[in-house]
Amino acid sequence: MNIGLLGFGVVGRGVYDITAARDDMQVTKVICLEDITLPDAEVTRDFNKILTDDSIDTVVEAMGGLHPAYEFVRAAIEAGKNIVTSNKALVATFYDDLLPLAAEKGVAFRCTAAVGGGIGWLSELERVRRVQEISMVGGIMNGTCNYILDSMTRLGLDYGEALKQAQALGYAEANPSTDVDGIDTWHKLILSSNVAFGVSMEHESVPVCGISRISAEDIANFKANGLTCKLVSRGTQAEGKYTAYVQPTLFPQGALEAAVPTNFNLITLDGEYSGRQSLYGQGAGRYPTAYNVVEDCVSVLAGKSFYSPYGGKVSADNSVKLRYYVRGGDAWIDSVTAEKWGTASVTEPVAVNEIHAWLKNNPEAFIAAIAE
Ligand code: HSE
Repeated sequence: MNIGLLGFGVVGRGVYDITAARDDMQVTKVICLEDITLPDAEVTRDFNKILTDDSIDTVVEAMGGLHPAYEFVRAAIEAGKNIVTSNKALVATFYDDLLPLAAEKGVAFRCTAAVGGGIGWLSELERVRRVQEISMVGGIMNGTCNYILDSMTRLGLDYGEALKQAQALGYAEANPSTDVDGIDTWHKLILSSNVAFGVSMEHESVPVCGISRISAEDIANFKANGLTCKLVSRGTQAEGKYTAYVQPTLFPQGALEAAVPTNFNLITLDGEYSGRQSLYGQGAGRYPTAYNVVEDCVSVLAGKSFYSPYGGKVSADNSVKLRYYVRGGDAWIDSVTAEKWGTASVTEPVAVNEIHAWLKNNPEAFIAAIAE
């Protein structure tokens, strides 16, 4: 396999290093905006050099961001090149465009590193769905948020310091608001639901709340009640109905999720025959993520394409009811409050879509669901 590598940052550099030690694939051209030289690959700023090079059969996209990644990937598919990418924003956003195009052109499209970094989550969904229906996917999918929440809870770090450390360790996205506002997890949930359920989830129907408004007061309240806060995604399907949402969630200290440290991810599926299974591992970072990119290249060599057939559009119905911790209330929150933890409220069960709609009008508030 001859690879044209787009991007030489955290992930791209890792892909170059891992493939350099292999006989079955080599990076022959690299797009990099910095002036570097590499022993075995041509470095260029000109994507056309990759596009028009017929010896390059596979494009590995590790640039991140939507543009020009989208234009480059689309052009590469049109030119008949396989795609391997770690870019969840790209795949989730342009799912309805890129997946049918790849199928039409008969090229492979793999993005295992887009969800769970070094965990083989999407490739496991591909395997599992051959034999059984998947009724639930979700869990801790963002290393940066987990690192921040874990540092605040276990080490008493303040939010800003924990975020700075996650950035220094290479976990955070270029714009960390993508992580802390839950958008990265949202992309990963949409992609996971699409693959697991064989659908294309309507983005607007999937509400998201991140952790950027969490305070030391919240962490103290959770500890006092034996709970640990994690940013969690959840997608379900049953009898043609779907749920999908991303929100901070409180787990009892004995729960698996509560024990997940630093940048690790814990992602779970529920299958018809297998029941619940969880995958746990490094959710971010150079070599774990690059490892899964190279796994995808091996899968392409083995003849694998995308993980599931492209499905039709569906919307999430989030009328399911949960109890919520809410800091920053109003008359409606008072009307559904069952108890108080300091100045914060704990509600009786309220619909997920209802409290997320309320949050949009109350952007200073912080909410966390209480896990059932
Ligand atoms: N920023 C992401 C995270 C990188 O923190 O999980 C891996 O997708």
